[in-house]
Amino acid sequence: MQTPGRLHDLVAIVTGGGSGFGEAMCHAFAREGARLVVADLNADSAARVTAALTAAGHTAISFRVDVAKSPEMRDLVQAALDRFGRIDVMVNNAGISHANQPMLNVTEEFFDRLFQVNVKSIYLSAVHCVPVFRKQKSGCFINIGSTAAVRPRPGLCWYNGSKGAVTLITKSMAVELAPDNIRANSLNPAIADTPLLTTFMGAADTPENRARFLASIPLGRLCQATDVANAAVFLAERSSSFITGVCMEVDGGRCI
Ligand SMILES: NC(=O)c1ccc[n+]([C@@H]2O[C@H](COP(=O)([O-])OP(=O)(O)OC[C@H]3O[C@@H](n4cnc5c(N)ncnc54)[C@H](O)[C@@H]3O)[C@@H](O)[C@H]2O)c1
Repeated sequence: MQTPGRLHDLVAIVTGGGSGFGEAMCHAFAREGARLVVADLNADSAARVTAALTAAGHTAISFRVDVAKSPEMRDLVQAALDRFGRIDVMVNNAGISHANQPMLNVTEEFFDRLFQVNVKSIYLSAVHCVPVFRKQKSGCFINIGSTAAVRPRPGLCWYNGSKGAVTLITKSMAVELAPDNIRANSLNPAIADTPLLTTFMGAADTPENRARFLASIPLGRLCQATDVANAAVFLAERSSSFITGVCMEVDGGRCI
């Protein structure tokens, strides 16, 4: 008989599930037996990932959402409940950044959008998920932060600040929600080979530019989406039930 996966029967929502880290988390969670809601602003990406999951024999639905909009987050949570009857893991992964540039070049309009997508989304996920988690007497948030929160690079000032907020909000959620058996943890990945790479570099993806970034990572490689996915599986699984308020680097030693 096959042993059940580490996330057997759990239900997970992954925002930004249509690309990069989110896509890898959807696949890793599904392989470990979770049922997935692949949520993304880009409906086509979410549908593509969902199709790949179902083709592999997993259970998943896709949902188009703007994580910065309360009615859409409410509908996302309701869609998960309608389809699966519960939610065990809420992964707040969708995020954006301004290009690497001098801080005063970032417009006020973009600053507002950045904080809506990277920070307000976590508030909205709490507004709509905490009542569900309280009713279930269990639930877990996994927020995707960044090494930017711990060891900020120049040129990414406002993005760095948004990820600093992810860290402190994660710890604050952990202490406040612990009596309800609701856990909150975050992951701080180093720069990765996803579509955001050139945004963070603020330059073309050339071997020379990569070498500059690699020099600041002791293990000598960029973060892979699977590194983040494996860490997220660990935080989501039942055997991590005593782990809360942790903001864990997935960074090859970048923050040492
Ligand atoms: N790539 C890196 O180097 C890196 C490093 C550290 C942290 N991160 C963080 O990891 C997370 C995922 O990054 P990634 O590299 O996988 O990015 P990505 O661009 O590959 O994927 C992000 C996904 O989020 C979706 N998205 C964007 N805005 C949204 C919104 N308002 N509502 C719903 N979905 C939305 C996009 O459509 C996309 O599918 C982000 O929070 C990012 O800040 C990335």
